[in-house]
Amino acid sequence: MMRYALILFFLWPVLSWAELSAPLEQPKINPGDTASLRRGAKLYVDRCLGCHGLKHLRYLRLKQDLSLSDEEFKTLFPWLDRPTGALTSNLRDEDAQAWFGVPAPDLSERAKALGTDWLYTYLKSFYADDSRPFGVNNWVSKDVAMPNVLWDLQGKQKAVINKGQIERLEIVEAGSLSPQEFDRTVTDLVNFLAYAAEPTQLERRRLGKYVIGFLLVLTFVAYRLKKAYWKDIH
Ligand code: HEC
Repeated sequence: MMRYALILFFLWPVLSWAELSAPLEQPKINPGDTASLRRGAKLYVDRCLGCHGLKHLRYLRLKQDLSLSDEEFKTLFPWLDRPTGALTSNLRDEDAQAWFGVPAPDLSERAKALGTDWLYTYLKSFYADDSRPFGVNNWVSKDVAMPNVLWDLQGKQKAVINKGQIERLEIVEAGSLSPQEFDRTVTDLVNFLAYAAEPTQLERRRLGKYVIGFLLVLTFVAYRLKKAYWKDIH
């Protein structure tokens, strides 16, 4: 008995690794691309915020970081009276538990932990599976309880099985976007998620530019000073 337990113990990482056989794709993420962040934010608010909050991202910070005018902000969050607090979801854990069997996690920390490659591939990897409650499964996150909320854009995918393993996913019913457009749309969404997971990174980048500029000026001044001081010695 003990021997089997030990074998299982050592084999477990291999077994669970085999489960995640989807090769992860790498989106071109650019947190400096405000237009992409804006498109991603719109998509997130329309299709994700109902279930997943972003507790580290405050409304006012988002407005400022994405340079949204009052008008644009109002269009993005029409239900909001006062832009105070963070982007939390209205879905209560009890309801999520009842509907999905699990709570929908807040994505502030999860997004960072999962990483952009995982998120990108996950959002593209839903496929038809009649044995699942919502009729879809996910190649990256097997038996995930989330419905595919982007299916109308991507279309319907089915898994191509080879020797009992998923080999790849194939679109069997086109969505409203072409595959290239869909990839771009998911990239925007993941770009936004990466930003939302760590909203201060934009500020750090901006500050970084000032710091480098300051150091350059300082170097120049120091150089001139040195020349002035040593002028008579040579
Ligand atoms: C109808 C509710 C609902 C909507 C809308 C929704 N999700 Fe989910 N999502 C869930 C649930 C429930 C889970 C937990 C699934 C599980 O653990 O099996 C989940 C899981 C996830 C996970 C995996 C988290 C983890 O810790 O593994 C990610 C990432 C995610 N969702 C992203 C999104 C994004 C991005 C959108 C918008 C495009 C979105 N979700 C829209 C309900 C939803």
